[in-house]
Amino acid sequence: MTAVSLLDCARNAHENKAAETAVQIIHGDVREKLADLADETFHCCVTSPPYWGMRDYGYDGQIGAEARIQDYIEHLVAVFREVRRVLRNDGTLWLNIGNTYTSGGRTWRQSDVKNAGRAMSYRPDTPEGLKPKDLIGVAWMLAMALQLDGWYLRSDIIWHKPNCQPESVKDRVTVAHEYLFMLSKSESYYFDQDAIKEPTADGKTRKNKRSIWSINTEPCKEAHFAVFPRALVQPCLLSGSPRDGLVLDPFFGSGTVGVVAVETGRRCVGIELKADYIEIARQRLRNAIPPLMPDLAATAPRNATSRERYTTPSLGL
Ligand SMILES: C[S@@+](CC[C@H](N)C(=O)[O-])C[C@H]1O[C@@H](n2cnc3c(N)ncnc32)[C@H](O)[C@@H]1O
Repeated sequence: MTAVSLLDCARNAHENKAAETAVQIIHGDVREKLADLADETFHCCVTSPPYWGMRDYGYDGQIGAEARIQDYIEHLVAVFREVRRVLRNDGTLWLNIGNTYTSGGRTWRQSDVKNAGRAMSYRPDTPEGLKPKDLIGVAWMLAMALQLDGWYLRSDIIWHKPNCQPESVKDRVTVAHEYLFMLSKSESYYFDQDAIKEPTADGKTRKNKRSIWSINTEPCKEAHFAVFPRALVQPCLLSGSPRDGLVLDPFFGSGTVGVVAVETGRRCVGIELKADYIEIARQRLRNAIPPLMPDLAATAPRNATSRERYTTPSLGL
C-alpha cells in the first residue's frame, strides 16, 4: 500500500468513527422524545419544522397538517418550549420557516416533476379572517408566539434563494426568500460574532455578518422533501456553539444539521419520526468529513457572553 492510500485509510477510519460518535439520532415523535432529554444540555438548536399545509409526510397527527393554523402554532410553541428547557441558559435557537399562501379553495396539490414531495392529499382551508390568495404570515405568527412564550427574538435573517423555484403567478412577485429567526433563552447568550464575520467590499478587513444571506438551495438526491443547504446551517453552528459543542435538531429529516456538525467539529442530537429519513441521514453522515485542523477561530475567548464557553455537558440521555 502506498503512503497516500495508507493515509486515506487512516483518515477514513477516523472520519467514519468521528461521524458515528458525534451524532446521535433518536427515532420518534418530537412531542414525546424531547421529554427524555436533560435540562440545559445543548448549546444551540438549528431546525426547520414542517411548514403549515405545505408537505404531506404521510403519517397521522403530523405537525403541519392541522386544519387550523392556530393549532399548528400552538403545537410548535409547545415543542419549542421543550427545546428551551433542554437548551443551556446561554443557548440559542435558529429557526428556519417560510410564509405560505392560502390554498384558494384547492383541496389537494399534484406532485411536480422537480419535487415529488410537493404532492398533497390535503390542503388546509383558508384560515378564518383571511381571503383566497392572501399571504399568510405564518413565519411571523410563529416568531411572535415564541416571543410571547418567553423567547428573546434577536434576529430575522432573510434567506435569499437566488435559484428559487419559478412560480406561474402573474399578479405578484416570485417568492425568493424564507426566514431564519434567531432566538435566545436569556438576555445574554453565547454568540461568536468573529467566527462568521464577512469580508468588507475592498476585501481588506472583515465586518459583522449582515442579515440577508444569499444561498442556493442544495439538492439532496436521496430526499424528496425540503432539506437545508449546508451553507445556511454552517454560520448558525459556528456562531451558536463552540468547537465540540452540542447542537440539537428536533426535526432532523435527512440530517443536514448532523452533517454540518461533523464538518465543523460539533456534536449533534437529532430527532426524526420517519424511519426512511433516518436511513438517508445515516447514509449522509457516513460520508461527512470532520475538519482535520483545529478550528483556530473558535479557540480563543473573544466576545462570548458565557462564563462556561468551553464546557461541553454530557448528552444526558
Ligand atoms: C422540513 S423537514 C426538515 C428537513 C431537514 N432540515 C433536512 O435538512 O433534511 C421536517 C422534518 O420533520 C419531521 N417531523 C414532522 N413531524 C415530526 C414529529 N412530530 N416528530 C419528529 N419529526 C417530525 C418530518 O418527517 C421531516 O423530516
